[in-house]
Amino acid sequence: MSLRPIWGKVTMLKINNLDVFYGNAQALDNISINVEEKELVAILGANGSGKSTLLRAISGLTRPKSGSIQFQNRDIQRLRPDEIVGMGITQCPEGRRLFPSMPIYKNLLLGGYVFRNDKSKIKKIMADVYEMFPILEERKEQLAGTLSGGEQQMLALGRALMTEPKVLMLDETSMGLAPKIVESLFKAIKTINERGITILLVEQNAAKALAVSNRVYVLESGRVAVTGNSRDMLQDPKIREAYLGI
Ligand SMILES: Nc1ncnc2c1ncn2[C@@H]1O[C@H](COP(=O)(O)OP(=O)(O)OP(=O)(O)O)[C@@H](O)[C@H]1O
Ligand SMILES: [Mg+2]
Repeated sequence: MSLRPIWGKVTMLKINNLDVFYGNAQALDNISINVEEKELVAILGANGSGKSTLLRAISGLTRPKSGSIQFQNRDIQRLRPDEIVGMGITQCPEGRRLFPSMPIYKNLLLGGYVFRNDKSKIKKIMADVYEMFPILEERKEQLAGTLSGGEQQMLALGRALMTEPKVLMLDETSMGLAPKIVESLFKAIKTINERGITILLVEQNAAKALAVSNRVYVLESGRVAVTGNSRDMLQDPKIREAYLGI
């Protein structure tokens, strides 16, 4: 049972002392992170620092060895991935993972699978997704595999939105895309957040992530190395040099 506090904000995700191993190799080491309702929190860190592992653990795709993951005060670290999606936590994974031989609209319908018994709801959410990304409606019959990289990323975001997430987790949304497309994707992410969806964003593009987020955690070798308010971090010369190279 999840009890909403009658004052203050709801903690959407509370991760305590999380340890994740792949065989003998430790990928996450005593990680503690919290994400409040309607926040946009960024996770930064070099390749191999554990960012995707963190999102996979929250999604139930990788089992932690110890520690806890709570969603709205309820332990979720032992739930199945589909149960976690059903509660409102959706991940837009690295590499997009679309169904390339299916048209856009079928990819979206598969995203809306959790509402398969409520056709009018699916129709309504799909209309919202098409409103946010008009190109997906214009091209709805086009096979996902033939879309450009930027269009595929929009489809991946749209498909994640089809689950009507309370928490949306994005893994390297902007990777490999042209600056103009990155710009419009970050704009879409901001809009999604302003509509009330809590966002946990994993990024290599530190400057963009700091500009768009409220708070940030920097991972180093599976540990939280630095955390703070994104605006303060952007102005801290040490952080700028170490993580932004400016
Ligand atoms: N399935 C796996 N089996 C074994 N080791 C893994 C597996 N997945 C990840 N690792 C290891 O765990 C560590 C963290 O990997 P992870 O993918 O979480 O990093 P990341 O921060 O997302 O990196 P990147 O920025 O390159 O995506 C790395 O050392 C990686 O090699
Ligand atoms: Mg990764």
